[in-house]
Amino acid sequence: MCDIHESVAPRSTHGYGYKQGTFSTSNVPTENVRRSSPRSLVSHLYEIDVKIPVRDGVSLSANVWRPAEGTAPTLLIRIPYGKDMESPFGDTIPNLATVLEAGYAIVIQDCRGTFRSDGEFAPHAADRTDGEDTIAWIAEQPWSDGIVGMCGTSYLGIVQWEAAVTNPPALKAISPCFASLDKYRTPWYSHGGALSLSTVTWWCTMTYTFDAQRSLSRGAGTADVLPELGRAMLDLNSLNEVLPTGEVPVLAKYGKWWSEFMAHPAHDEFWKAFDLRPAVPEVEVPALHIGGWYDHFIPATVRDFVAARRQAGTELARAEQRLIIGPWDHISQSGVYPDRSFGPMAPARALRLGRLQLKFFDRWLRGDTTALDDVAPVKIFVMGIDQWRDEQDWPLPDTQWTDYHLTSSGRANTSHGDGTLTTEPASKVERDTYLYDPRRPVPTTGGACLPTTNGFCGPVDQRGVAGRDDVLCYATPVLEEPVEVTGPISVTLFVSSSAVDTDFTAKLVDVFPDGKAINLCDGILRARYRNGLDREELMEPGTIYEITVDMAATANVFLPGHRIRLDISSSNFPRYDRNTNTGGVIAQESEHQMISAVNHIHHGSDHPSRIVLPIINRRVSQ
Ligand code: BEZ
Repeated sequence: MCDIHESVAPRSTHGYGYKQGTFSTSNVPTENVRRSSPRSLVSHLYEIDVKIPVRDGVSLSANVWRPAEGTAPTLLIRIPYGKDMESPFGDTIPNLATVLEAGYAIVIQDCRGTFRSDGEFAPHAADRTDGEDTIAWIAEQPWSDGIVGMCGTSYLGIVQWEAAVTNPPALKAISPCFASLDKYRTPWYSHGGALSLSTVTWWCTMTYTFDAQRSLSRGAGTADVLPELGRAMLDLNSLNEVLPTGEVPVLAKYGKWWSEFMAHPAHDEFWKAFDLRPAVPEVEVPALHIGGWYDHFIPATVRDFVAARRQAGTELARAEQRLIIGPWDHISQSGVYPDRSFGPMAPARALRLGRLQLKFFDRWLRGDTTALDDVAPVKIFVMGIDQWRDEQDWPLPDTQWTDYHLTSSGRANTSHGDGTLTTEPASKVERDTYLYDPRRPVPTTGGACLPTTNGFCGPVDQRGVAGRDDVLCYATPVLEEPVEVTGPISVTLFVSSSAVDTDFTAKLVDVFPDGKAINLCDGILRARYRNGLDREELMEPGTIYEITVDMAATANVFLPGHRIRLDISSSNFPRYDRNTNTGGVIAQESEHQMISAVNHIHHGSDHPSRIVLPIINRRVSQ
């Protein structure tokens, strides 16, 4: 990242050992460099492994980069994956050399119990107080001007909310990327109560590996678990296949947070303790929310923006929430996928995402009142036309919420069936039927999931999976005019089942003239949670229930010649765990306990199953 010159390292003035040096950013090859700012050859100091004490006596380790002279505002990054990595989360945070050159200090800290920080790691458990104490510590340093901002992606984004709800006086702005206020809904379970299986197995295997290595290097633990974790990391698909789900050997053996996640399938007291949504009124800072249409945090990104805009604790904080969403996933922000490429403007680099974040911090950390003058509050990438668009709010104020009704003659199975979507309420009473067998689940085929899910992520041609008999497809006629769908999406279904519990999945698909079918967004509902994620209520077999499946959000123009399609089924595996259909504790059930469910989608005048699309009527340039 930088041209680093280590100098003779004087001992720390606060008694902790650390390395110290100077470095220059003069030859940093980055398009993000603010050319107008003067450059100096040796203008910053760095200190490695600075020990920051927090309230319970634990000391957290941080790397501190700061201007050699004077005081500066500070950007704080808190990370559980190792503070020494060169650029945590690549294109989603500002280029750190550029940040320094712009006159900021940077503190990158290992979260409690990870890498070089002391204490025990337990996801989310200490991030609130550790964040608050770290911010207070920074504000007291002689090199600090008392002002702190935070940035970072995913877990590094979640920790920003943890700190922000404590409302530390020095914290002036945050920029959470791919983050979430409620950890149950995102990332560990889902808005419909199904376990985000492939996310949990990947993340736990990775963090257990870090944890085991750390224990070993501190003289605790044994080496035997590491090869096992290493093998598991290389074969995550096999891990996801294990039944009962809660008994994946390598993870069950390690126990810790994976066991806790498994023990709490509902949004119970365990999860409520981690749910920051009720604390949004405590937040008093502007936030720049960053999301990706194919990132698994997207349902939270859009909701958290709306929550903060409506409920943050001050008028300034409510007014100064901002949102950027690109055609990105959790790992790649290029907008390039084998089945769909979103064009030259799609990459985070093309948007100059880092520069936009720096402008945001210039506004709120350095008092540059004009820094955001040319930046709209909401910036979204509209797929289909593959263009960035500036907006004033989300959902877009001119949204026309439009019902598209599901109809068929009772044979909507597969993309070659007779299912249609129509804006006219369907009068004909019908139902479609499929067999959901959890031993033969619908495989995850792209979507807002990690690339470690079956090898798929993002927009993927659905033609293969939509040929299955347990997938119902409802499509509009071929469009003659462009139809823009931008906003939150949900589907209301009238369902019945032979089982006391089962899942319902929904996927919005853009069908191209050549038949290619690209997924845009999707969702799942575990029927037992249809009346609340903290309330299990089994179904009466054969009874018709009205349910709503939250499908997150998208922005897409369906071009002339395309069709809008909704695909319904009962599994999306291994992105989500399989419902065993028994009504029992899913994580504890083995293959022979699973039963098949005959599931029905009812539609027509008595049961108006429909997808509600946020239609935007504007002139579209193609
Ligand atoms: C992440 O930090 O990248 C992450 C956190 C939770 C779930 C998945 C990914």
